[in-house]
Amino acid sequence: MTEQNFTTDDAGIPVTSDEHSLTIGTDGPILLQDHYLIEKMAQFNRERVAERQPHAKGGGAFGRFEVTEDVSAYTKADLFQPGKKTDLLIRFSSVAGERGSPDTWRDPRGFAVKFYTEQGNYDMVGNNTPVFFVRDPMKFQDFIRSQKRRADNNLRDHDMQWDFWTLSPESAHQVTWLMGDRGIPRTWRHMNGYSSHTYMWVNAAGEKFWVKYHFHTDQGIEFFTQHEGDQMASVDTDYHTRDLWEHIDGGEYPSWTLKMQIMPFEDADDYRFNPFDLTKVWPHSDYPLIPVGRMTLDRNPTDYHCEIEQAAFEPSNLVPGIGPSPDKMLIGRLFSYPDAHRYRIGANYKELPVNRPHVPVHSYSKDGNMRHHNPGDPVYVPNSKGGPHADPSQVGETATWYGAGDMVRSPYALHKEDDDWGQAGTMVRDVLDDAARDRLVDNIVGHLLNGVSEPILAKAFEYWRNVDKTLGDRIADGVSTKQSETDPKAGEQANPARSSAQAKA
Ligand code: NDP
Ligand code: HEM
Repeated sequence: MTEQNFTTDDAGIPVTSDEHSLTIGTDGPILLQDHYLIEKMAQFNRERVAERQPHAKGGGAFGRFEVTEDVSAYTKADLFQPGKKTDLLIRFSSVAGERGSPDTWRDPRGFAVKFYTEQGNYDMVGNNTPVFFVRDPMKFQDFIRSQKRRADNNLRDHDMQWDFWTLSPESAHQVTWLMGDRGIPRTWRHMNGYSSHTYMWVNAAGEKFWVKYHFHTDQGIEFFTQHEGDQMASVDTDYHTRDLWEHIDGGEYPSWTLKMQIMPFEDADDYRFNPFDLTKVWPHSDYPLIPVGRMTLDRNPTDYHCEIEQAAFEPSNLVPGIGPSPDKMLIGRLFSYPDAHRYRIGANYKELPVNRPHVPVHSYSKDGNMRHHNPGDPVYVPNSKGGPHADPSQVGETATWYGAGDMVRSPYALHKEDDDWGQAGTMVRDVLDDAARDRLVDNIVGHLLNGVSEPILAKAFEYWRNVDKTLGDRIADGVSTKQSETDPKAGEQANPARSSAQAKA
């Protein structure tokens, strides 16, 4: 039978009009029995799921990861065995803006990868930066709120952002990154992705390693200046989303080379930096990058809501051979994401095709809203009815470490070179060239002039002097000069050092 393309309601029943409600007479009242009209209105009212709290604006694509080297000495994870190809989904995002916000605002970018492995889903939920703003999950909520909107006028507020940053000196490394060139990637194709966190890898012999993931873009790093980003934000709000879509659609498939830093398990205790502190990198000279394979994106989503908006990434999806580390932020995240998904999408979010693993599921989860398939009896374990049972040799918990001590609320114990400013200063002095340093100064000055008031402004100058004395002085000078151009009195207040020097002169 040839299928006719007639409209039906959601029950598959043909409807008699796409345009007219059922009324008494042509001008009469609408009848309650017009259940099709009611279905249309009710369904429309429920079209939106809540946007992600952070990382609301983003886009994604499908592809695969191909292992080109042999890293089996470090991990038994199936997806990293020689020659292996694994399907994946990636979602790129910005952090602070809402779902409709411009792609080219200055912000870190999310880099969330879901690998559909033969051992279940493995999610590497990283960013385009190797470090983060805070190192304890207790501060994450406050940090994100300081980046979003005020309670009173619902406006974003640089004063609030710098208040948080200057009171949180551990943020300095990430803020240096954010204010630099990489704070506005030209496109998602032109940025790296990092796990940022340290994870554990375990090989087939049970040997353990601490690892960091670096996805290096094969397209090369490219960025927008502040001016270019601002221009693009007004010309094309969805520039990054469009760029990714059009390149994949046109057969220009972007790719990234995965390289790992691998630290022997025993090195962690007396490494010069705390290797689990998310505000620090491991210098390449200490732990060089070891290539693993290539990620290529070659398929666009066909249904944005079902495949991207309802995609649920969670750092707790760890497969055998990969485990967490004592990074407190990571451990906080292991709880937070599945909790967010249960709220945002629903208890059975893992049943949606995009979140479902590509291997059979033998869990004892059961029922709940929108569940469409239960594993069946027996519904309990242990059982003598042939139900699935756990395999102690396979569980991710083989990635363990020894821990003991009193219960405390405390910062991490310091390693000998740990501080809040050092690695940020290294980036400013040793990594950036003169032109990149000039742009860094301009970006920070512009940001501070956009609504930051005393005493936070003075604290911001100190913050940057702690990163690098010359940088801090240049920023204070830059703010003061700009302020003097518009309001000579304000310029003097902004830079007491400068005005007292002028007075002496
Ligand atoms: P290296 O000279 O070996 O590494 C410097 C790295 O800095 C480069 O490899 C590149 O990372 C990154 N980089 C280059 N230009 C910029 C830029 N404009 N903005 C941000 N990052 C840039 O030195 P170290 O490993 O000793 O690190 C020195 C400093 O470099 C660190 O304190 C940190 O601030 C920064 N850095 C270090 C990384 C690491 O994992 N060791 C990673 C990124 C930055 P990539 O190759 O990843 O593109
Ligand atoms: C999204 C929490 C730190 C990367 C989210 C979401 C939450 C969250 C609740 C929204 C999830 C959703 O609704 O789908 C936290 C907490 C953190 C933390 C509690 C620290 C304690 C980090 C860090 C990184 C990161 C350090 C990167 C290294 C991301 C990414 C997304 C995201 C990429 C978007 C995922 C997607 O595309 O769906 N985070 N986060 N987060 N977070 Fe975090």
